[in-house]
Amino acid sequence: MKTIAVFTSGGDAPGMNACIRAVVRGAIYYNLRVFGIRRGYAGMIRGAVGREEDIFEMTSKSVSNIIQRGGTILKSSRSKEFMTPEGRAEAYENLKKNNIEGVVAIGGNGTFTGAEIFHKEYGIPIVGAPGTIDNDLYGTDATIGFDTAVNTAMEAIDKIRDTAGSHDRVFFVEVMGRDSGYLAIRSGISGGAELVLIPEKEDSIENVIDTLRKGWQRQKTSSIVIVAEGEELGNANSVAHRVQQELKELDIRVTTLGHIQRGGTPTALDRIRASRIGLACVEALLAGKTNVMVGIHNHKIVHVPFWETIQKKKPFQEDMLRMVEILSI
Ligand code: F6P
Repeated sequence: MKTIAVFTSGGDAPGMNACIRAVVRGAIYYNLRVFGIRRGYAGMIRGAVGREEDIFEMTSKSVSNIIQRGGTILKSSRSKEFMTPEGRAEAYENLKKNNIEGVVAIGGNGTFTGAEIFHKEYGIPIVGAPGTIDNDLYGTDATIGFDTAVNTAMEAIDKIRDTAGSHDRVFFVEVMGRDSGYLAIRSGISGGAELVLIPEKEDSIENVIDTLRKGWQRQKTSSIVIVAEGEELGNANSVAHRVQQELKELDIRVTTLGHIQRGGTPTALDRIRASRIGLACVEALLAGKTNVMVGIHNHKIVHVPFWETIQKKKPFQEDMLRMVEILSI
């Protein structure tokens, strides 16, 4: 293998840049040529969007001064075209044109699903780095970006707590996580929430009402309820509305944190995780591995087949939820 490429795809996550840096510098260390592909699979298909070349050779200098930056210098997209055989054929032609013999894909579930199909059709070796704030990938203890997103949400909750306390209010705070409650649980614990609602666990509106009513009776004057984006009971607004109808004595407000959780300076943990994984991706390609996500489990680098990380559901942390309940009395 003489030439590889790296791209980021799906929702961006803090630490992706540190991972790109590690892939590029790792590749150069092993005497490989390395190309960057901008805009994920979309850039791979079109080769150029607008005025920019989307497939371009990178040097050690291309990744200087980026380890501390949020977002992704390679940009990202969720490409519909890549889901079509025609799109993938074009993508393969563009890789071939640049003599690219191995690929590092930084992204989440959707990115790896595309990579798996692409490899089956064209045989090009491809390994993945788990980059998503959701931490919803099976086989790795944490994904790149998760720790930063938890810290961002926690800081926001701290601020909300100030105003909640000042006005004796109950706040429903919605955090991201389409199918996963990891971000909700961790930010809920670190922010001292009274209740955390997540998609993996069946919740009832009666329990939410009961918990808040009991808190109120115990003279709790303000409370924080974290609602994961994918919660089955509905979004934070709708859950809050139903609770307010039952508990008229509470003064309720809702905050949706949204995309602020995706940005910002990556934490040290995310930079270190991203650097280790990025370098290990290059080494995995050189060792002849393909169709695997490179993750970290119990502090060690692991290689998890794409099919496994896509199909298996990361277990949610029941004990952590129990802790939220105990510590909110
Ligand atoms: O996968 C990361 C994520 O931030 C999810 O938590 C969220 O549901 C989704 O991306 C939002 O995607 P978009 O930025 O395309 O609206």
